[in-house]
Amino acid sequence: MQSDIKNQIESLRNELHKHNHSYYVLNQPTISDFEFDEKLHKLQQLETQYPDFFDPNSPSMRVGSDLSVGFKQVAHKYPMLSLSNTYSEEEVREFYDRAKKLLHDEIALVCELKYDGTSISLTYENGKLIQAITRGDGEKGDDVTNNVKTIRSIPMQLQGNDYPSLFEIRGEILMPWQVFEDINKDREFQGESLFANPRNAASGTLKLQNSSEVAKRRLDAYLYYILGERLPENTHFDNLQKASSWGFKISQATKLCSSLQEVFDYINYWDKERKNLAVATDGIVIKVNDLRQQLNLGFTAKSPRWAIAYKFKAEQACTRLNTVSFQVGRTGAVTPVANLDPVVLSGSVVKRASLHNESIIEGLDLYIGDMVFVEKGGEIIPKIVGVDKEARLLLGDKVRFIKTCPECNTPLVKATGEAAYYCPNESACPPQIKAKIEHFVSRKAMNITAGVETVEQLYAKGLVKNVADLYQLTKADLLGLDRWAEKSAQNLIQSIEDSKKVPFERVLFGLGIRFVGETVAKKLASTLHNIETLVAVSFDELIQIDEIGDRIAQSILDFFAQEANNDLVNRLKQNGLRFEIDENKREKSSNKLAGKSIVISGTFSTYSRDELKEMIEQHGGKNVSAVSAKTDYLLAGENIGHSKLDKANKLGIRLLNEDDFLAIVMQ
Ligand code: IVH
Repeated sequence: MQSDIKNQIESLRNELHKHNHSYYVLNQPTISDFEFDEKLHKLQQLETQYPDFFDPNSPSMRVGSDLSVGFKQVAHKYPMLSLSNTYSEEEVREFYDRAKKLLHDEIALVCELKYDGTSISLTYENGKLIQAITRGDGEKGDDVTNNVKTIRSIPMQLQGNDYPSLFEIRGEILMPWQVFEDINKDREFQGESLFANPRNAASGTLKLQNSSEVAKRRLDAYLYYILGERLPENTHFDNLQKASSWGFKISQATKLCSSLQEVFDYINYWDKERKNLAVATDGIVIKVNDLRQQLNLGFTAKSPRWAIAYKFKAEQACTRLNTVSFQVGRTGAVTPVANLDPVVLSGSVVKRASLHNESIIEGLDLYIGDMVFVEKGGEIIPKIVGVDKEARLLLGDKVRFIKTCPECNTPLVKATGEAAYYCPNESACPPQIKAKIEHFVSRKAMNITAGVETVEQLYAKGLVKNVADLYQLTKADLLGLDRWAEKSAQNLIQSIEDSKKVPFERVLFGLGIRFVGETVAKKLASTLHNIETLVAVSFDELIQIDEIGDRIAQSILDFFAQEANNDLVNRLKQNGLRFEIDENKREKSSNKLAGKSIVISGTFSTYSRDELKEMIEQHGGKNVSAVSAKTDYLLAGENIGHSKLDKANKLGIRLLNEDDFLAIVMQ
């Protein structure tokens, strides 16, 4: 009996460790939050019931960790704890009764939305933001101050004059749905892996090493918890109102409730209404309002006794699995998609759901005809989370991941360490070719005015089988096809002709080399100048280039190792496309900053940070992110980071303003 319990506890711990790893380390959740919380709950129950099996490393002991190597780690002044979670209104009632009983008093509660992003702790001294730290392991987190400063809804300087001279404020950094969708569209286009949900996208963004990239991601933040020795008011609600007057973004949904019924009404209202919000929420947080009562209730090792989180259940529906199709993308990645009997889920009709990859399919043990549970969690694409095995009547075929490409029959391959299968037949697999042509003609690449339908038509008629064929097209070819007239044909031919003037970096981007997006293409063009050098360059030389890592370098080598790709480049060259950078640009460069290591900090009036960085490199210098004894100059703009400035002063590093810098490179 005892050994059965021990086994049960251990297997739950192992399972949760694995899910934690997938979630926190790999950023690829493998089960729904609800299932995870249920398992954790079960483990916590068993651990309380059988204290003999205590383990300091149990998943129940940790608050999660998001430390990463590139940032300075800083200890939290007050630990960042989590909240105890529930999915049941009954447990909310128990929380309320317990608090009243412990306090021997009536209580008022504050209800807030539980924002589903990544938590942050901000420190303000004399009204100025001095530090932003992630949760990390709850005791210490990463100093992401520079990245946080790019979030416009977080004030750098407070308004008014009644804020404490030193305090912390905590909240959630969020990526709005709209931004999340835009970024994923862009990533899909670039052949990069997609973010599973806005939470992963927000935490990934906050950990980017380059804060100007962070700025482009348009993050947002809500603040919900103030800590400090001398807070202006005696209640949580009033302090939040004060914080709002100092310039913080406090949720308008925050509500003071004096009865449990009001709390339940709030829950029911927001369970529906949250679908109309610009950011993701996954529940409600209920807090005791009075700060003295909070103090009396205190904390357990992991969470406050004065608050509880009620989490919304992800909406589920049950429907029949009809078929599974496998789609091939531009890079050859094969995605399994379940085709379902249409069913309404969270207000929209769902006909298809993602099956992610082979191991998810295996784990589900699926058969065609099965009744499956579909869930719309924090992700935009619904997913299949389970099978109703009881409802199995006649067993259809077992669903297995395919071994060969559904479009061209080539055996699929799997890169080590990756979950996805690829069709390696890059040069002859129809969807891959069409997607490559679409990418080549797109606005950010060659800007040829041919949409998806035109590409489809030209491909289907055998006129364009690869991007070089575009340059052989004649007006007569087009006029021989459906829907083409003199004017439209002339326009397309002209736009193809114009594309011959497109600069090298965009041609390089247009080639569609895996992982070579716009920024990487620019980098390669400005460092290597022409395609001949790029074709001849070694792996080691490539990874010397700033921002080019192993994965990108290998992909470039793989691309040029293929005869077909070299032939294609040669044909494009013969057609007059640009395969070297503009001479004017090159003449502008010099060795004026050769061997100089330069840190850029702050914002500038004439040039963007990216442009300044490019200029430094064009003139032989190196842009580095941290100030050290090896730094030669600190290029200082408006609102320069305090820590960088202090360090530079201490080390006697020369400061340059924008004008000083331009004088050096332009003279
Ligand atoms: S209060 C002592 N309020 O949920 C904990 N947290 O599991 C104080 N969260 O780490 C946190 N919305 O990242 C609080 N309105 C809200 C929240 C909220 C989201 C997150 C936060 C926290 C986690 C707790």
